[in-house]
Amino acid sequence: MDRVRVKKTDKAVSGALCFPGDKSLSHRAIIFGALAEGKSVFTNVLPGEDCVCTRRAFEAMGVSVVSPEPTTLEIAGRGLNALKAPQKELYLGNSGTSMRLLLGVLAGQPFQTTLTGDPSLSRRPMRRVTDYLRSMGAGIEGKDEGNYAPLTVRGGKLKGLSVTLEVSSAQVKSAILLAGLYAEGKTVVREPVKSRDHTERFLSFFGAKVSVDGLAVGVEGGQRLQARSFEIAGDISSAAFFMAIAALLPQARVQFKHVLWNPTRSGIVNVFQKMGVPLSVEKIYENGPEAAADFSIEARPLRAFEIKKEELPSLIDEVPILAVLATQAEGTSIIHDAEELRVKETDRIHSMVTMLGRMGADIRAEGNTLYIRGKSRLRGARVDSFKDHRTAMALFVAGLIAEGETVVEDLECINTSFPNFFGLVRQLGIDFRMEGEAG
Ligand code: S3P
Repeated sequence: MDRVRVKKTDKAVSGALCFPGDKSLSHRAIIFGALAEGKSVFTNVLPGEDCVCTRRAFEAMGVSVVSPEPTTLEIAGRGLNALKAPQKELYLGNSGTSMRLLLGVLAGQPFQTTLTGDPSLSRRPMRRVTDYLRSMGAGIEGKDEGNYAPLTVRGGKLKGLSVTLEVSSAQVKSAILLAGLYAEGKTVVREPVKSRDHTERFLSFFGAKVSVDGLAVGVEGGQRLQARSFEIAGDISSAAFFMAIAALLPQARVQFKHVLWNPTRSGIVNVFQKMGVPLSVEKIYENGPEAAADFSIEARPLRAFEIKKEELPSLIDEVPILAVLATQAEGTSIIHDAEELRVKETDRIHSMVTMLGRMGADIRAEGNTLYIRGKSRLRGARVDSFKDHRTAMALFVAGLIAEGETVVEDLECINTSFPNFFGLVRQLGIDFRMEGEAG
């Protein structure tokens, strides 16, 4: 089992960092590139395992994807209606985004496909997608009435759907909108709060007509997508771990280059403001369907923060690292009603409460609300990632501010979203000791 040993760091870190391509954007680039007509070229695509699963799935359905270098993909799009039935089941590893978005695409195909995943993905709820796709006309079978993988999808003639989601989820919204491209008539998805809007942006950028009216997004069936090429912005959810390092380590000053800059993803930037950490934006780029930014962060004493339920979708993947920051903030930080964290790659409320608690943090959950009282003197401990990439990276950062040595176990999972995480840590001059193969 791979592990990392890390000690408290007092180094005044500085430097400029570039991040691998955003995971949500990389998945969508592969999906839209495959379904568009013509050749799309994407650069700075995330080479993480999750995105490789999406790529392999489309290759298995006859799409040619060429990689002249590891982060560039040239995709020969087949259009919406020329995918081939795969010879065997499609394995999607740990990737919830691959499975949910592919369900939407497969719902419209005239063939049958089976989707499988690793043990974590096979425990994640899929009826939040499959129920809607069934009501559009797809046949989907799986354990517990189609709630758990393996899932077998029989694509069919779909009809448009107008729906209001109970939970704001970009994965659910995207699956329905992708299916909507294959449906007769219009499909409209409304959310309680806006979730990340990449799919809407991609639809429009690849030439489809999309209507966005407040919290409702609509798409007409029968449209075609045209190939497009662009550079994928750095992943703000990966940058978040380094934003935390910059805020936490004394006298740190770190520059972040070309990071995704989208209001539906930048909730963490608002939290930095609440904590009293200056974040100065130096440059904004427009990049295909999305914007990116260069910005800098300097360490400051942190103030406690509160995150309301309606703010959660814009920072849902950042809660583990925000919990680490909260341990060093003066006062009690509260993250309200974070039940969605229970159904991520692991139950992240449980993992952060138990692991940060083991390191001496004053952290507790009441129901699905997290209370973290700072400032705590964290102490090094042996902690476990629960095979969840974001938990592993958050605990590593906690190790940088804890007295003594912290050992984070089970690190391979980091490869799902951020294969070069430790390379960038090294770039800041931070020491650690790796045992086993990871890194
Ligand atoms: C994602 C949406 C989010 C997020 C996940 C990626 C996406 O999930 O947690 O890491 O790319 O659409 P939900 O939409 O289910 O909240």
